[in-house]
Amino acid sequence: MTERERILVTSALPYANGPLHIGHAIGAYIPADVYTRYHRLKGTDIIYISGTDEHGTPIAVTADNEGITPQEVVDKYHEQINETFQELNISFDNFSRTTKKTHHQLSQEIFLRIKERNLLYRKTVERPYCPVCKRFLPDRYVKGVCPSCRAADQRGDQCEVCGKQLEPHELGKRYCVLCKGTPVMKETEHWFFKLSEFSQKLEEWITSNEHWPDNARNFSLGWLREGLEDRAITRDLSWGIPVPVKGSEGKVLYVWFDAPIGYISSTKEWAMKQKKPDLWKKYWEQEKTKIVHFIGKDNIPFHAIIWPAILMADGEYNLPWQISSNEYLNLEGEKMSTSRGWVIWLHEILDKWPADYLRYYLLCINPAKHDTDFSLRDYQHHINHELISTLGNFIHRTLTFIEKSNKGVIPAPKEMKEIDEQAIREMEKAVKETGKHIEEFRFSQALQSMMSLAHKGNEYFQHKEPWNRENNTTLYVCANMVKTLAVLMKPFMPVSAKETWRMLGLEEEPGWDEAGELSLEGGHRLEEIKPLYSKIEDEEINAFKKKHLRKEKEVDEMSNISIEKFREMDLRIAEIVDVKDHPDADKLYLLKVDLGGSVRQLVAGIKDGYIKEDLLGKQVVVVTNLEPAEIRGMKSEGMILAADVDGKPILLQPDKETVLGARVR
Ligand code: 2FM
Ligand code: ZN
Repeated sequence: MTERERILVTSALPYANGPLHIGHAIGAYIPADVYTRYHRLKGTDIIYISGTDEHGTPIAVTADNEGITPQEVVDKYHEQINETFQELNISFDNFSRTTKKTHHQLSQEIFLRIKERNLLYRKTVERPYCPVCKRFLPDRYVKGVCPSCRAADQRGDQCEVCGKQLEPHELGKRYCVLCKGTPVMKETEHWFFKLSEFSQKLEEWITSNEHWPDNARNFSLGWLREGLEDRAITRDLSWGIPVPVKGSEGKVLYVWFDAPIGYISSTKEWAMKQKKPDLWKKYWEQEKTKIVHFIGKDNIPFHAIIWPAILMADGEYNLPWQISSNEYLNLEGEKMSTSRGWVIWLHEILDKWPADYLRYYLLCINPAKHDTDFSLRDYQHHINHELISTLGNFIHRTLTFIEKSNKGVIPAPKEMKEIDEQAIREMEKAVKETGKHIEEFRFSQALQSMMSLAHKGNEYFQHKEPWNRENNTTLYVCANMVKTLAVLMKPFMPVSAKETWRMLGLEEEPGWDEAGELSLEGGHRLEEIKPLYSKIEDEEINAFKKKHLRKEKEVDEMSNISIEKFREMDLRIAEIVDVKDHPDADKLYLLKVDLGGSVRQLVAGIKDGYIKEDLLGKQVVVVTNLEPAEIRGMKSEGMILAADVDGKPILLQPDKETVLGARVR
């Protein structure tokens, strides 16, 4: 017997500093999940590892912004991210956290080993320091102009526009993200990794990896040509893994030093959970294991250059075999932007439609070689006119026909003609083709191969007209084709695959290689048949867009107005003197405000942020000369000003109690 192939799949560890959006899902998780689920059906020895990335300035800056501790940030978002992955049916074998003890220990161990091998050195350097905040400003604590593409407002670790790796001191027009002040340069000592010593070894290794996708190869070879420089792998920060060397107190490891080590420490944790604490070594230490990293394109420099160099320096573990790195996903023709609210969060879309719909559509538009566009209309179209009318329809019409015409029992076949043999050959062909595409990381094409079998199934059914003539062979072949599809669907759409399997009345799952066989025999009884999918209506798309896709223009995109125009607006200080529920709208209050003499009624959509008691007696700013409006049958004579923060209102208030009716200008 030949030994089973062994693969360790990883997906980039997302920062635990916010929710995940559709771009994350197709960037590094759905393709990895398809790959893993397929290999499980093939019988490969495969495990799928990930976790949250919980160190570094992405976490520390979020904590500063939200006014909570970094620990609270990571606890909150680890939980949320983990839930989202479960809803999306991402089948990790282990999903860990880089704040775990095993991870801290392993990261420090690797640091010390590389130091022993003389591949680290200390050096005093100048780094941005904020005299106002009295602290160093590593990575994302500084923003400024990218030295490479001149884009403004880029973060100190990487330019979002050109993708260049940066150090904060390389930015032009630098400012501190905390106080917006100008940092000064101040001396500090850091540990440097001798990255420059690995140029040749990396180049040989990368050129020998002919199966890498173009984006990873081209980026890394380009960087090698420019010349590699040694890199600081420590930071002046209090949040992170302490540098395990005397004299380096108060410094932590750079997050990109420890994060990829999370792939190994999460595997160790998995082995411990299996009660076989050494099992992880089989994947990381035995050479025949293929390590496959799934990442988004902005992570290429770390996975194709820095991480392999660290592994080479350490010398104990396997190098990556594949780096599958997707390009970007745009939204309705524009770049996604979380700060501008131009984004679809996974928890929102998964609340509305089944995960299989999203997985299907994202895999259709998988941005493997170039950026692609997510559009809600296109999503609706793909679901209604492909997933449902081709795949759902073939499965449903076959099974309901057997139910109605033969009491749910699959008939034994009679004579097989060429057209039937042809249909059977298509099943074998789809199994092979779909599998080959997945093995070679072509996920959209794989999905198409599977769908083309459903399409052929419909054609066969139509052509054979089982409603007009003797139909035993037709129904037998179609039922077996449904079973083939139930296996082929599984990597892509695990929930509908399972439901199809249930309707077929099958228990034990066949492996991938047997999926094309005629294993459903005459006499086998089906279970209760239900439609797999239901159509997405226009109104659902409209409502989703209205609720979740609100775009704010950037400040710099607003057109100017004259001061006269601004003065036409009458803004006054008012006090809220009465609050009632709107009789006819759940989200609205009916307010009475005192403008210093006259009292007016306003209808305000601020229920999302304030209870009645909070509002009574508050001084606010009101626009008084808007044309009066009737909102759900109630008169509204003005508008209260509030900031919109992720859809929630934050009321504007004068900074001290003042005269009611005072003009705001
Ligand atoms: O870009 C990111 O979200 C990083 N947290 C990815 C880390 S991948 C790995 F190295 F851990
Ligand atoms: Zn500052």
